[in-house]
Amino acid sequence: MRVDRAPLEDWMREFYFATTIDLGSSGVQCWSVGELMDLLGITAEELRGLTFDDSETYGSPGLREALADRFTKGDPDRVFTTHGSTEAIFLAMSTLLEPGDEMVVVSPGYHSLSSVAASMGCRIVPWRLREEDGFAPDLDALRALIGPRTRLVAVNFPHNPTGVSLTADQYEEFLDIVAGSGAYLVWDGAFTELTYATEPLPEPSLRYDRCVSTGTMSKAYGLPGTRVGWCLGDPKLLKRFLPLRDALTICLSPLTQLFAEHAIRQADLLVSLRRDRARTNLALLADWIAGQEGRVTWTPPAGGCTAYPRFPYVPDADELCRRLGREDSVLLVPGSCFGHRDRARLGFGGPAEEFRTGLERLGRALATSGPRP
Ligand SMILES: Cc1ncc(COP(=O)(O)O)c(C=O)c1O
Repeated sequence: MRVDRAPLEDWMREFYFATTIDLGSSGVQCWSVGELMDLLGITAEELRGLTFDDSETYGSPGLREALADRFTKGDPDRVFTTHGSTEAIFLAMSTLLEPGDEMVVVSPGYHSLSSVAASMGCRIVPWRLREEDGFAPDLDALRALIGPRTRLVAVNFPHNPTGVSLTADQYEEFLDIVAGSGAYLVWDGAFTELTYATEPLPEPSLRYDRCVSTGTMSKAYGLPGTRVGWCLGDPKLLKRFLPLRDALTICLSPLTQLFAEHAIRQADLLVSLRRDRARTNLALLADWIAGQEGRVTWTPPAGGCTAYPRFPYVPDADELCRRLGREDSVLLVPGSCFGHRDRARLGFGGPAEEFRTGLERLGRALATSGPRP
């Protein structure tokens, strides 16, 4: 199996650890172990009592129950924990698709939602979020793309990098369209809990039995280093993932599952602290953009913690982002990682002071890039 390179990961490899100001990540600010212990009441005794044993294939009972209480109406049989949602996506795609199958996938989008299927020899049909519509999802366009040959539909809402999402009505319509076709649905819910003006969308795998939804500690929870993710769905469907799981990762670490269990049990507290910060940063970003005299245009995100602004006077945002990374120590992800040359992914989940500094440096770089407005 040969998987194409992911330009986003290549960019992160070069700049994530080489910069001090993070204006490019898609998650909220990460928590330290000490902060988590204080905030969630994890004691040293609990950690000392832990044995580095193997864990159950589907995940530790405690973590599965915590996830079930939060997402699957208390049914742990509908929960399969994974190494990040990346493994969940890999398991789902590899198990549900066959070479030659047709898959409709939101575009632009997170790379592994299409790269795994493409590497298997599937036909990828992009459901385009069109720039000229502010990337608003067009359900009529989706309806026209899905047909009897569609084996699987893969989407991610709230969406990375644009921050667009479905309204509650659109969500129902979307599920009706997919369910009407009988296709599998891989619903990437990495940002489900990060919404600003609306409630998070409901769990789709409870509504459609051919849906696998994926989630992660990496984005709203600020715990990407735990590498804990999950997939939710019909137990019969999840069971089909076992052979690949056994060949790939076998089980998760009991240590990271312990932290994840506490985090999920107190998710409202943990997520709301970071979501409030992101909301404040988002307001700052709106003010900053308003002061950029047309050098930056955008569609304000409905969820997630990335915006996808356009720089109309910068023909090559790669160059801008590279300069920011090398000379100003600022991480900003060029839109070329998602198929747009004059845009960048701008993450607003970080600490307020760092975010402000990042915007100042970006403002300076924009003032000297390309023709003046
Ligand atoms: C939309 C989306 N899905 C899935 C992932 C995978 O994240 P992880 O493997 O850390 O859960 C990411 C990471 O950036 C993402 O943005």
